[in-house]
Amino acid sequence: MSVYSPANPESVFTYGAPQLKFGHGSADEIGYDLSQTGAKRALVVTDPGLAATGIPQRVADQMAQFGIEAVVFDGSHVEPTDESLEHAVGWAREHGPWDAIVAVGGGSSIDTAKAINLMTTNPGVLMDYINKPVGGGKAPVNPLNPLIAVPTTTGTGSESTTICVLDVLSLKVKTGISHARLRPTLAVIDPALTLTQPAGVTAASGMDILCHALESYTARWYTTYDHKTPEQRVPYCGSNPISDMWSEKALTLLAGSFRRAVRHGDDEKARGDMAMAATFAGMGFGNAGVHIPHANAYPIAGQVKDFRPLDYPADEPMVPHGMSVSLTAPEAFRFTFEASPDRHVRAAQLLAPNAGVPTDATEFLPTVLVDLMRDIDIPNGIAAVGFDEGDIPSLVDGTMKQQRLLATCPREVTEDDIAGIFQRSLNLW
Ligand SMILES: [Fe+2]
Repeated sequence: MSVYSPANPESVFTYGAPQLKFGHGSADEIGYDLSQTGAKRALVVTDPGLAATGIPQRVADQMAQFGIEAVVFDGSHVEPTDESLEHAVGWAREHGPWDAIVAVGGGSSIDTAKAINLMTTNPGVLMDYINKPVGGGKAPVNPLNPLIAVPTTTGTGSESTTICVLDVLSLKVKTGISHARLRPTLAVIDPALTLTQPAGVTAASGMDILCHALESYTARWYTTYDHKTPEQRVPYCGSNPISDMWSEKALTLLAGSFRRAVRHGDDEKARGDMAMAATFAGMGFGNAGVHIPHANAYPIAGQVKDFRPLDYPADEPMVPHGMSVSLTAPEAFRFTFEASPDRHVRAAQLLAPNAGVPTDATEFLPTVLVDLMRDIDIPNGIAAVGFDEGDIPSLVDGTMKQQRLLATCPREVTEDDIAGIFQRSLNLW
C-alpha cells in the first residue's frame, strides 16, 4: 500500500557489485590480485589501531614479490571527517603518484581510501564532490585507480558500496560522497581477520549489517519511482528482486550467528557467517538503498556529546555507526510497517524463526529488534548515548538533510514523523 503512484513508473533496476574474493586465507592473495591490475606502486590505507596488529604491513609485504612497491598510510580516522580526509588526501598527493590503492580496516579506512582514490585522480577539492546540499555533488570526470578493499570489521559493507561517509566538522553534519566510480574494484573478505574484533564492535557493526538488510528489504520498491533517463540513474534504485534475495539471506545468517559472534568471538563459524551476512547485506543495500535508520544515524553520530562506547578508541566521544543506526530502527520500522506489512512480518520471521506473529503484526519486527539489542548490550535508546528531548529539533534537522536516503523510504516522511521517531527512541525499553 504505497502512497506513490507515478504516472510514468520506473521499469528498470540496476545491480552493481565489486568482484569478490571470500574465505579464510583470501587476504594472503592480495599481492597476486593487485599484480593482475598492472599496478607498480600501491598505497595501503589503514588506521593506527589496526596498523599496530601488523595486518596491514603483512598485506603490504606480499607485494614486493610481484614487483609492486607498497607504502602504508596508517592515518585513517575512525569515523572520517572532512579534516581527516583532507589530511589523508594531502599525504597521498605528496607521496604519490599511485596506480592502485588497498584499504585494510573497517569502513573508516575503506572510506578514507575511496576519498584518496577520488582526489588523487580528479581535480578540485573534497567539498566539490560531497553530496548536495552540503557540498557541490559533482561527479568525477576521470576514471579512478583500482581499489582493493579488505574489511577487518564485519559490518559497514563499504567494500561493496559506492559511498564514502564523512563528518563535516564546521557544520556538525554527517554526509557522504556517492558515485559509482567509488565502488572498490575487488572486495577481499577474510573472516580470519575479524577473529580479534571485540564484542562491542561486533555488536555495533552487526546491527549495521542487520539494518542494511532490513532497510534495503523494506526500501521503496523500484517501480514506484518516476521513470529515469539513463543519465539520471543513481546507484540506489529501491528494493527489487535481486536486492531482496541478498537481504533475505543476510537476515537468515544473522539469525543463526549474530548473538554467538558477540559472545564467542573465537567461533570461526559464527565469524564466517557474520562476514558472509555483511557481504550479502552490502550487495543488497548497495543497490536498493537504506532509509530512516541510516538517515537518523547521521545526526546521532554527528552531534555526539560525551558518549564513549566500550571497545572503541577512548580519545574522543563517538557513537559508532552501527550503534547510531540501530537506536531508532525499532521505531522506524514501526513507522514504515504500513507501507509493506508483509515484508516487515517476513523480515521478523527470518530473524526469529521460532517466534509467532503477534496479534498486532506492527509490533513483530520492533520486538524482535529490541530483544536482540538487549541480548548484545546495545544502549536502550538515544537517551543512553547522551541525547534528551531538547536535542530532537537539531537531530531532526540533521536527518532532513539526508534527502538522498529519505528518498528510499517506503512512505512519505515529514519532519514531524522523524521527530516522533526520535521522541519514541529516547528510551526503547
Ligand atoms: Fe551502515
